[in-house]
Amino acid sequence: MKIAVLASGNGSNLQALIDRQDDSNSQYRIVAVITDKPGAKAIERARNAEIPAYELSPKAFVSKQEYEKQIVQYLHQHEVQFVVLAGYMRIVGEELLQAYEGRMINLHPSLLPAFQGLHAPQQAIDAGVRVSGCTIHFVDEGLDTGPIILQQAVLVDFHDTEQSLQAKIQQHEHRMVVEVVNLYAQNRIIRHGRRTEII
Ligand code: GRF
Repeated sequence: MKIAVLASGNGSNLQALIDRQDDSNSQYRIVAVITDKPGAKAIERARNAEIPAYELSPKAFVSKQEYEKQIVQYLHQHEVQFVVLAGYMRIVGEELLQAYEGRMINLHPSLLPAFQGLHAPQQAIDAGVRVSGCTIHFVDEGLDTGPIILQQAVLVDFHDTEQSLQAKIQQHEHRMVVEVVNLYAQNRIIRHGRRTEII
């Protein structure tokens, strides 16, 4: 299955996907990486792996619609079948959603629906929860609201900072994102409205 990764920053989840795509049981190939933040580390990771990489500044487009049209054009050009939002810090609009709804996932560093939006690990610390975690879900028009596919709990220690909790969560994300992409490619994720089933 041909996939694309959209990322705005470091791209450690992109790296996890790069590192595992040649596994003998891998079901996917990353054919494009797109960022909305020119100069993002994710782009360097893509280029090092010889994956076509596109830096698109939304400011260079007259509207979000035009910006996303360009993204969809690149995705179609590379025959992308599945999209991973890995630290892509924008709400997806109509253009991209219409093109890839049900074929696009997002990673979020909390046990959704708790702590949606930015700085989820800090939100968890501030709320005093003892358990947080990470979620992979299908993307819909909301912010971190689509049908949940996979979740993993992570303990919050009293001495955790946003950075240390984020680091613990990311270790799980790196494993889970590869797992979910492989499951999807094997048609093993079934949607039932807002719920999903892994078979
Ligand atoms: C991840 O922790 C993900 O949950 C959130 O953004 C972070 C991206 O990290 N949406 P990276 O760029 O993949 O290192």
